[in-house]
Amino acid sequence: MQKINAAITAVGGYVPEYRLTNAELETMMDTSDEWIQTRTGIKERRILKGEGKGSSDMAVEAVKNLLEKRGISPLEIEMVICATTTPDMQFPATANVICDKAGMTNAWGYDVNAACSGFIFALTVGAQFIETGRHKKVLVVGVDKMSSIMNYEDRTTSIIFGDGGGAVLLEPNTDGYGVIDSILRTDGSGRVFLHQKAGGSVKPASMETVMNKEHYVYQEGQAVFKFAVKNMADVAAEIMERNNLTAENVAWLVPHQANKRIITATADRMNLPAEKVMVNIERYGNTTNGTLPLCLWEWESKLHKGDNIVLAAFGGGFTWGATYIRWAYDGAK
Ligand code: UT7
Repeated sequence: MQKINAAITAVGGYVPEYRLTNAELETMMDTSDEWIQTRTGIKERRILKGEGKGSSDMAVEAVKNLLEKRGISPLEIEMVICATTTPDMQFPATANVICDKAGMTNAWGYDVNAACSGFIFALTVGAQFIETGRHKKVLVVGVDKMSSIMNYEDRTTSIIFGDGGGAVLLEPNTDGYGVIDSILRTDGSGRVFLHQKAGGSVKPASMETVMNKEHYVYQEGQAVFKFAVKNMADVAAEIMERNNLTAENVAWLVPHQANKRIITATADRMNLPAEKVMVNIERYGNTTNGTLPLCLWEWESKLHKGDNIVLAAFGGGFTWGATYIRWAYDGAK
């Protein structure tokens, strides 16, 4: 029997219109455009404005964009996996909400929570449902409204994050294109360095937790940086080695966009020149689960059938990993 791979056959993306520039951040806190650009590479990030708008609203725009490009009805989608750290609500799953709002009424699905590595975790999960032959059309969404958990009085963390997301469609391929390999890792002891203190079952929301600003992202930046640089580069090198990939035959690195310095360290470890690395951090900052699909969305027109693409991510948890994809189509739809 021929092996079934899960090929990405369409990509959609969405970023909100509002641009939160470094200049505007300078008016909100003691920071500077120069500091932010030198330390992170970020110039601006997008923010979702509007009462009652959540991660699902951005995901729906990305999904509509994808369905239109692929020329299929929402009713054809069988499964939706949503990677998000900022779900619309604690429950139900944001995947459910997206299915309802985008009219994917024949689909089932759920959310995956692996912080900044969520998209490659969800992609790996989604690929299994295709590889087993169980489903023919699986949507994987990565989306976050990071502004909803940002303390804009905390200059060490709030300057990094932004809102946005994207989606990819997985379909069966028997010609050797699609998701080929994934290495995924977790180390729960890293949770102390990057987490949200309150709002979960350990510390439910109360007047006190709100007053203490415990519903925002807590990050010890330097510690996270050290783990991220090492682990993201290690896992990218490992996936290259075990798939006989070299700097010459890899077409693109799609790195999580957390810090330009972490991206550069990963690319250096893979010996990849800058022109093979997707970087849009200067315009969107760190959109957590959104970074990788947003890169694929923006670079889609430059991709070719047969391109070897390595996705790499590191995030809260800690979680990290790399995925190797042999791209399945030429250019943008
Ligand atoms: O995506 C999930 C995973 N997350 C990451 O990968 C993030 C990893 N961490 C980082 O990217 C970096 O650690 C940060 C960008 C968060 C911070 O950069 P850093 O080079 O590690 O800076 P630092 O925290 O060591 O701070 C250096 C100095 C400090 O001042 P002193 O103590 O040297 O006087 C900070 O108070 O910079 C100060 N500082 C700032 N100054 C101006 C911290 N934030 C700012 C700021 N503007 N926004």
